[in-house]
Amino acid sequence: METKITQLLDIEHPIIQGGMHYVGFAELAAAVSNAGGLGIITALTQGTPEKLEREIVKCKTLTNKPFGVNLTFLPSLDQPDYAGLVDVIIKEGVKVVETAGNNPQKWLPKLQENSIKVIHKCTSVRHALKAQDIGCDAVSVDGFECGGHPGEDDIPNFILLPRAADELTIPFVASGGMADGRSLVAALALGAEGINLGTRFIATQEAPVHDNVKEALLAATELDTKLVMRPLRNTERVLSNAAAKRLLEKEAALGENIKFQDIISEVAGVYPKVMQEGQIDEGVWSCGMVAGLINDLPTVRSLIDKIMQQAELIIADRLSTAS
Ligand SMILES: Cc1cc2nc3c(=O)[nH]c(=O)nc-3n(C[C@H](O)[C@H](O)[C@H](O)COP(=O)(O)O)c2cc1C
Repeated sequence: METKITQLLDIEHPIIQGGMHYVGFAELAAAVSNAGGLGIITALTQGTPEKLEREIVKCKTLTNKPFGVNLTFLPSLDQPDYAGLVDVIIKEGVKVVETAGNNPQKWLPKLQENSIKVIHKCTSVRHALKAQDIGCDAVSVDGFECGGHPGEDDIPNFILLPRAADELTIPFVASGGMADGRSLVAALALGAEGINLGTRFIATQEAPVHDNVKEALLAATELDTKLVMRPLRNTERVLSNAAAKRLLEKEAALGENIKFQDIISEVAGVYPKVMQEGQIDEGVWSCGMVAGLINDLPTVRSLIDKIMQQAELIIADRLSTAS
């Protein structure tokens, strides 16, 4: 299947694995790229430029296909060494960068002068238009369903994607709630050029996370996510677990006086404990509503092959005979 995204990124299938903290390591990124999609290593998980470089080098030993790096720009005071991370991305010849969080404008010239394609992930049409204005090559449009940070507008993809299609001239991929071939066909119908998946890729053989995390996704339904940190305007969709319950109780008790410090124990330093040690109630961790559509733990290749086969069947069979 060829779309503007497969052409732009030089990949076989219009399927991207979004950056995921403590999930987006070389093993998963390479598996996705080897299966014809675009795998993405998450820079901030590695922490330092040296560690990111090691992970990129490792990924290159596992695949000779293009892969990307996610750069999440945080509003925190204690800023990561973004300049160093960008230098390593350029030095190692990475072809694609997925940016997320704050405006990536500062880094665009340097990345693009080095032939790196930049896809900015955003949760609203106005931010997508801003990304287009500053020169991003594509955007990833993350609907309200998504795992992670859906923003504060609460617009689901059935509205957000056609709105983006009506306004944008650069290509975009649909993100949030994407699970299978049905998602891909629907995304294409709504104007997207491909799909970006987060949560679904965690429930695969190659995802380098503890089995408890994969089991939790298999057990979860579409009713098992919660929105936390809304009073701090830093809303995150997380798996409904003991930590989410504790956090929401604090939010209810403290009301609009709540400060980040009040909830720090439920969010800071949580990912290694959850993803690597399997302590899934230690804190809150991102999970999309798409958990309700996850019932197996396939290899990445079989997941991607199945998405493509199902999409092609729907297009050739069901849609062509619809009257
Ligand atoms: C466990 C987890 C961690 C994530 N970490 C990041 C991150 O560090 N940076 C980022 O830009 N997006 C992050 N995301 C968001 C994903 O890249 C993607 O946009 C989102 O998961 C899409 O929604 P879906 O989960 O419904 O597929 C994360 C998502 C999950 C589930």
